[in-house]
Amino acid sequence: MMTEARGAVPGYICTMSESVSPQFLGRDDVNDIVSIIRDDARDFGTDFHSTAARGDAIFTWDYSRTREGLGKLYEKAKTSQWNGSTDLDWSIDVDIEQVAREMSGAVNFFQQRMTDVEGSPVKNWGDKEWLQFQMEAFNWRMSQFLHGEQGALLCTGKIVVTTPWIDAKYYAASQVMDEARHVEVFARYLDTKLDGHYPVNANLQLLINDVLGDSRWDMTYMGMQIMIEGLALAAFGFMHHVTQEPLLKQLLRYVMSDEARHVAFGVLSLQEYYQGLSAAELRERQEFAFEAAIRMRDRLMMQAVWERMGIDRKVITETMFKLREQGGNPFQAALFSKIVPNCKKLGLLDAGDGWLRDRFTEIGVIEYEDAMNTGEEYEMLDLVAADRAS
Ligand SMILES: [Fe+2]
Ligand SMILES: [Fe+2]
Repeated sequence: MMTEARGAVPGYICTMSESVSPQFLGRDDVNDIVSIIRDDARDFGTDFHSTAARGDAIFTWDYSRTREGLGKLYEKAKTSQWNGSTDLDWSIDVDIEQVAREMSGAVNFFQQRMTDVEGSPVKNWGDKEWLQFQMEAFNWRMSQFLHGEQGALLCTGKIVVTTPWIDAKYYAASQVMDEARHVEVFARYLDTKLDGHYPVNANLQLLINDVLGDSRWDMTYMGMQIMIEGLALAAFGFMHHVTQEPLLKQLLRYVMSDEARHVAFGVLSLQEYYQGLSAAELRERQEFAFEAAIRMRDRLMMQAVWERMGIDRKVITETMFKLREQGGNPFQAALFSKIVPNCKKLGLLDAGDGWLRDRFTEIGVIEYEDAMNTGEEYEMLDLVAADRAS
């Protein structure tokens, strides 16, 4: 079903696709394990995957630079460019086992809880299995970063085309270059330092497809800048904190300083745009944010890694849900520490009757609502500028 909705430009009508299912992801229950397994088993091909991109190309004849915040970010982007070929030392030999050992040490508590849960398929695992698991998990994470970066590259290209604001077109153009560089460096790391890589996680790709397929220009920001990049920033931060591997550490530092700017771009743009939306339109954004959050949560289960370690996907999914019922939440930990505060800052948590607050409470991530938001963080994370200065 297609409906007509008023877009961002006065007098401009955009076509709106029906992208939000009242069922959420086509599930009667977002925790339905059969549906989660079904989604996770989706195949996106070996060489190419094509998906519909929707939305009108918008020309603006208003070239005045009225959005100071975006202008400032754009200036920052121009001076913070780095070169993946020359600013990183690719001669460094990477000891994958050592990286895996660092990861294993950092998530001891999780490994213990996985072992202790009733009927655990990893009950008999010792150090050797956990080390192997962490080596696979490292490869899987880097692979998802790579695919996610390509998603960001395509989505940012779409923002250049569909946003009605000249300041946003300028900034998004700089981000296209950033994302190309990120794809380049993750691909090079995987190809030259690791052994093969994993295909894209289905939940990540399904979310990227939803973002590209939605014709409302602001949904690209919500799906990519807020949800996917917010989660990526937290994941990069965790890995950067844990690892001592010098090439990876430097690569992540540089990527993070770009990503913090990207999330800030999303927050600034949506803050302004949402002020002009009706309660019904805001509710659609809340539902989209929740659907994206569920995709991100399910992405973190890493079924492909467990399967490579000989464990059935259904068994591991059930095990993870059992852990959740016991109180802690192994999927998201602090990973939602970027997403929830940013939704709060956008006014989405409490818009209407606080629908999104209720949903985030249900999936156990509301406790992160006051963690630092990225709008304040990007100046602090400008590590490229800091390196240049020294
Ligand atoms: Fe990126
Ligand atoms: Fe990004």
